[in-house]
Amino acid sequence: MYRSHTCGELRISDVGKSVQLSGWVQIVRNLGGMSFIDLRDRYGITQLAFNMEENASACEMARKCGREFVISVDGIVRERSSKNPNRTTGDIEIAVANLTILNESQVPPFTIEDESDGGEELRMRYRYLDIRRNPVKEKMIFRHQIALETRKYLSEHHFLEIETPYLIKSTPEGARDFIVPSRMNPGQFYALPQSPQTFKQILMVAGMDRYFQIVRCFRDEDLRADRQPEFTQIDCEMAFVEQEDILQTFEGLTKSLFKNCLNVTLPDFPRMDYDEAMELYGSDKPDLRFDLKFVELSRMKGKGFSIIDQAESIYGFVVKDKEAAFSNKDINDLTEWLKRPQIGAKGLIYIKFGTETIKSSIGKFYNDQELNDLGLEIGASSGDIVFILLGEKDKTLKQLGDFRLEIARRLNLIPEGVFKPLWVVNFPLLEWNDEAQRFFAMHHPFTSPLPDDKHKMQSSDRTTLSSIRAAAYDLVINGAEIGGGSIRIHDRNLQSKNFEILGFSKEEAEKQFGFLLGAFEYGAPPHGGIAFGLDRLCTIMQGNTSIRDYIAFPKNNTGRDTMIDAPSSIDEKQLTELSIQLKLETQK
Ligand code: AMO
Repeated sequence: MYRSHTCGELRISDVGKSVQLSGWVQIVRNLGGMSFIDLRDRYGITQLAFNMEENASACEMARKCGREFVISVDGIVRERSSKNPNRTTGDIEIAVANLTILNESQVPPFTIEDESDGGEELRMRYRYLDIRRNPVKEKMIFRHQIALETRKYLSEHHFLEIETPYLIKSTPEGARDFIVPSRMNPGQFYALPQSPQTFKQILMVAGMDRYFQIVRCFRDEDLRADRQPEFTQIDCEMAFVEQEDILQTFEGLTKSLFKNCLNVTLPDFPRMDYDEAMELYGSDKPDLRFDLKFVELSRMKGKGFSIIDQAESIYGFVVKDKEAAFSNKDINDLTEWLKRPQIGAKGLIYIKFGTETIKSSIGKFYNDQELNDLGLEIGASSGDIVFILLGEKDKTLKQLGDFRLEIARRLNLIPEGVFKPLWVVNFPLLEWNDEAQRFFAMHHPFTSPLPDDKHKMQSSDRTTLSSIRAAAYDLVINGAEIGGGSIRIHDRNLQSKNFEILGFSKEEAEKQFGFLLGAFEYGAPPHGGIAFGLDRLCTIMQGNTSIRDYIAFPKNNTGRDTMIDAPSSIDEKQLTELSIQLKLETQK
C-alpha cells in the first residue's frame, strides 16, 4: 500500500491517526536535530517531521532526499507547534516513522512553484514538471469540470455522445487540412477533421436527433493566443429545430457551466445583428465589457477639408474624461500603431475637448464652434477626447474596432471578473473575395439562408447575393468567439444551388460532397447545430488569454511540440511504405 490519505486531506481532527502518504518532495529543510519535508501530490502539501533523536534512520533518509524525489512515508498525525494558516493541512504534520525513497529525481530545470523561474520554452519542454505546478494543474482540473458539466447538461437534454472518425476526407471550414497518407491506398490521403460537420449532419439524417461530442479538431492555420492546430470542440447537432431552439438550448448550457463551475449567474444573453456589431464596434465579436461605441460622422463633410469630404466613410468614438490622458507623444504612438501593416490605417484624427481649449488635428478646417457643435451631437464635452478614422467602410470599421480594443487596454477600461455574453446573429451567408473573384461561405457551405432571404439564392446579381442573411449565430463572451453554428440546408436542390454560388462545378460538388448530397435524398430532417471551442471557453471563464494554458500538451507558436520534438522527419522505410518520395527544395 502506498497511501492511506492524500497530501491535501489531513486536518486537526486527524491528530493521533496512523497514516501513510506518498508524493513528491517539494523541499527539505534541516534544522539542527530536526528535518522537515514538504510532501506534495495533486491534492496538496503536508509537512513531514523527522527527529534525529527519536528516529535517526528516518531522519537520515530524509536528508538524502532532494527536490522532486518520490517518497512514501508512514507515521502519526500530530498538531504543529507553529501552524501555517495558508495551507489547508497547515495545522498538522506527520511524525514520520519510516521513509522509503520510491524514485530519485534530477534537480528540476525550474522551480515547481506557483511563480516559477522557468520561461515558457523550458516549461513546455518539461511539461510534466510544469503540470505539477498549482496554476497549471488547477487549469486542467477546471477543464475537466467543464467537460463533466457539459456531458451532464447535454445528457439531461437527451443528447447522445457519438464519436466520429478522425481519418476522413477534407471538410471545407476555411483552414488548411492536416493530411495523413494511406499505406493501403498508395497515392491517397486522409484528412484530419477540421470539425465533424458533415458527420453530425449525417447523424441527423440517421435519426439520432440530438448529438454531441467533445472532440478534437485539426486546422493547419497560423497560430495565435486563441488558436491551436489541434483544439477541442463541444460539437452539437439537433434535428427538428429552428434557430431559436438552438440559441435557447446553448444559452442554457453556457449559463449552467458558469453557475456550476464558477458560481456566476449570467443574465439572458442580448442578441445583436452582425451589421449592428460591425457598425457599433467594428467587430463581429464585440467586447461589451466597456463602451466606446462608434458614431457615424459623415456630418463632418462640407467644410472644405478634402480628405474628409472625399472619404467613403467616417467613424469615431468618444472616450469620456480622458482628454488629459493623451499627450502629443501618445497620439503619435497611437498613429504609428494604426499605420502598422497589421492595421493599415492611413492616419488618426483626434479632437481634445480641454477645459479651456479645444485641440484637434483638424483644427485648421473646423473652428471651435463647429467642433463644439459636433461634440454636442455625438455626446462629447469638456474633458473628453474623440478619435476618428476614415476611408473605405469595411476597412475603416475594422481598423476602428482594433483601435477601440487598444484604447481600452491602454486606459485599463476592461474590468476584471465581468462576463458579457451575447449572440451575434444574422450573419451574411456569403463573402465576396476579390482575389479569388468568387464568393466564400461566411460560416460554411452547409449553412441555410434565413427563410425570408431564400429567394435571393436564385439571383445572379452580386449585390443581391451579398445581401443574403444566413441562419447563423455566434456566441461571443468578452470579445472572444466562443461558439458558432447555423441551421443547415437540408434540401438537396438548395444545397446544390449553394455549391454552385460558391463556384463548385456539379462534378466537384459531387466528388467532394456526394456522400452528403446522397444522404439528403433519403429523408433529411430540418436540422442545425453549434460548436463551442472548449479551450477558449475555459480560458475566457477564468479571465485568461492563452488557450495553451488549458491544453495539457499544447503546440508552440510554430506548431511544434517541443517535449516530444514533433513534427519530425520519418525514415526512408516508412516513406517507401507510404509510396511517398520527398522532393525537398535544396538550398542554393
Ligand atoms: P467554427 O469554425 O466557428 O464552427 O468553430 C467553432 C468554435 O471552435 C473554436 N475554434 C478554435 N479554437 C481553438 N483553436 C482554433 N484553431 C479554433 N478554431 C475554431 C472557436 C469557434 O467558435 N462546424 C462548425 C460548427 C457548426 O456549424 O456547428 C465549426 O467548426 O471557439
